[in-house]
Amino acid sequence: MALMEVAQGNRRRGKSRGSLAQSVEKWFKIAGRDLPWRRNRTPYGTLVSEAMLQQTQVARVSPAWEAFLRQFPSVRVLARAQQDRVLAAWQGLGYYRRARNLQAAAKVIVGEYQGKIPCDRLSLENLPGIGPYCAGAIASIAFGQREAIVDGNVARVMMRIHGRNVDGDSRTGKAWLWNRARDYVDESRDPALANEGLMELGAMVCTPNSPKCGECPVRRMCGAHMAGKQDQIPTPRRRAVRSVLHVDAILAIVNGRYALTRRPSIGLWSGLMFPPTIESPRAISRAVLAQRIGVGVKALSACGAFTFLTTHRSVRFRVWSVDDASARELKNAQENAQENAQKNAWTWHTQSAVKKLSITSAMSKIFALAEAKGNANAKARARKNGGKRVTSVRL
Ligand code: ADE
Repeated sequence: MALMEVAQGNRRRGKSRGSLAQSVEKWFKIAGRDLPWRRNRTPYGTLVSEAMLQQTQVARVSPAWEAFLRQFPSVRVLARAQQDRVLAAWQGLGYYRRARNLQAAAKVIVGEYQGKIPCDRLSLENLPGIGPYCAGAIASIAFGQREAIVDGNVARVMMRIHGRNVDGDSRTGKAWLWNRARDYVDESRDPALANEGLMELGAMVCTPNSPKCGECPVRRMCGAHMAGKQDQIPTPRRRAVRSVLHVDAILAIVNGRYALTRRPSIGLWSGLMFPPTIESPRAISRAVLAQRIGVGVKALSACGAFTFLTTHRSVRFRVWSVDDASARELKNAQENAQENAQKNAWTWHTQSAVKKLSITSAMSKIFALAEAKGNANAKARARKNGGKRVTSVRL
């Protein structure tokens, strides 16, 4: 008998000895990580943790989740909070659209469900930002419903267990994965433990590279392991080439106030306050940049550069500071101009106001480079002035 068939036979017979799901449940009870949202399960805590975990690693989510729940302890508090405060609490997690969707979902829950998170998949899927995976996770983990989940971890575990490579992006591949995930949860004793255990298995043991088959509680039911094909299932993907975006970020300060603009509602850092930028598919010269900002070339000092990677893009930042006189001129010109009413107008913010905003990691790098440059300039000036140091502003 082929190894794959042995594994399938083991799984079928598994019903009497305990199914795949029941083995995972047992393992999860012993080996599952102690994570803050698992300690005292609530539907709201689960809604928040699942929103955070969609594209961010557990290590980053854990402290952010605890702080978020302290600041917004209930759906109602979240629903009526100011959006900028919610975005600030999302700092460090990235993909801020999730924060806006989470608050939008809280508003619907208050408006349509009297503040109680619905427990059925269909209602959950109708909430902003909640897709089939998240709805299944909340329904099963928070409410114990027998609902399936498929995310990247689950897809990989299912393909390996069944010894089969499918294209998770195709319609048939998706259907196959959801059917396997349904069979799995149907055989469970406790859908919450089974589903969360499956995610945990994917995250901790059945990892994309070098899976730890020796530690796996279900290796005897695993087609890929028995065939020695765990490195070929799923087919290793070639990394998609990231498109390159050149972003020149401008730091302009007038009387201790920093220029910021609100980013467009779609795209990178959508809707957040951010230093003004000029963005282009190719690097532009300093002269062109100066012209596009409306200052003389000499007004711009280069502070440094860094690259910021997102899933699909390589964003090459260059950071420039504008000298004081030009910054003042820009501020005056903008205040007098009609375009001031435009959405992308520069607005001027004190240090303490900036600190209250959501400082994305790209934004803090921009400020750090500008500060380092400011300190270097201050030192040079101090040397000239015979040792009297003028410090730069620190955020
Ligand atoms: N990823 C998404 N949800 C998760 C959870 N509840 N535990 C661990 N990783 C997850």
